[in-house]
Amino acid sequence: MIQIEHLSKTYDGVSEHHALTDVSLTIEDGDIFGIIGESGAGKSTLVRCINLLERPTSGRIVIDGEDVTGYSGKQLLKLRSSIGMIFQDFSLFQQRTVLKNVTFPLELRRDKKEHREQRALELLELVGLSEKAKSYPSQLSGGQQQRVAIARALANNPRVMLCDEATSALDTRTTVSILGLLRDINRELGVTMIVITHSLAVAEKICNKIAVIDKGRIVETGETAAVFSNPQSEVTRELLGTDSLSGDCGATASRAPRQVRREPASAILADALDAASAPLVNAGCPDEVCQATRGGESVEGRVR
Ligand SMILES: Nc1ncnc2c1ncn2[C@@H]1O[C@H](COP(=O)(O)OP(=O)(O)OP(=O)(O)O)[C@@H](O)[C@H]1O
Ligand SMILES: [Mg+2]
Repeated sequence: MIQIEHLSKTYDGVSEHHALTDVSLTIEDGDIFGIIGESGAGKSTLVRCINLLERPTSGRIVIDGEDVTGYSGKQLLKLRSSIGMIFQDFSLFQQRTVLKNVTFPLELRRDKKEHREQRALELLELVGLSEKAKSYPSQLSGGQQQRVAIARALANNPRVMLCDEATSALDTRTTVSILGLLRDINRELGVTMIVITHSLAVAEKICNKIAVIDKGRIVETGETAAVFSNPQSEVTRELLGTDSLSGDCGATASRAPRQVRREPASAILADALDAASAPLVNAGCPDEVCQATRGGESVEGRVR
């Protein structure tokens, strides 16, 4: 369990900037915990405080009952190796092959070469990229690069993964597949996920709990379904009215033959995610079509 207690972060500069003010949250083991808010709200600062990439100005981070806020040296390295992180821009090493990107954290902890390569190959299989082991990041699509980043983040067997806008640079169909992978990792490996996202569709579908942050303060937190169905704060209501995925793009969707209805793109993503535990069927459809099947049921949509 991760407890964030009365956390504040002030950046010094020409003038002081209060990026976080008195933030308190509890993230239980096994949660997929979403943090949503507008640009500049303090989301990245908050997750970077969890692995102490940013030092909180005040407050505490307590993990499994232990106050880690003051950690340094070996304790800090151990803490960071138990927390994987992925980013919007993938942050891969361009001069290293896919395999060598994934072995990197294991090199840092001086694992034997055979062991780290075997582990990296297992992880590449897990993310569906075994055949790309010898490729370089520039030879991969965005979705494939994010899969490499996920494999690298898993190398140390983390208990927690921090995902900072992990799907923001990806198209809808790739977003669906990456989110399905993150959800599988959460369920099958028991990795707790903290997911920062601008997208309400992403938060609604994969997060069991969410917190809404505005100007460095938590304005609402709770079970995702409850927050979405009955938002308590004005900020949440405004966010719900401006889903970044639907934006100005509409879409058509069909759950059953001849029952075609118009829906925002986010609904297509949501439908496809419902089916994400079943194989996602993309073969033979144009790029902009997102299709998935579950049992005999087919879900598909065209994002315009
Ligand atoms: N190193 C820094 N020095 C000074 N100010 C910073 C620093 N990092 C972030 N900030 C400021 O803190 C505030 C919160 O930034 P943060 O990056 O946490 O926002 P965010 O919610 O992640 O935004 P986005 O959605 O655009 O990524 C912003 O006003 C930002 O300008
Ligand atoms: Mg950010």
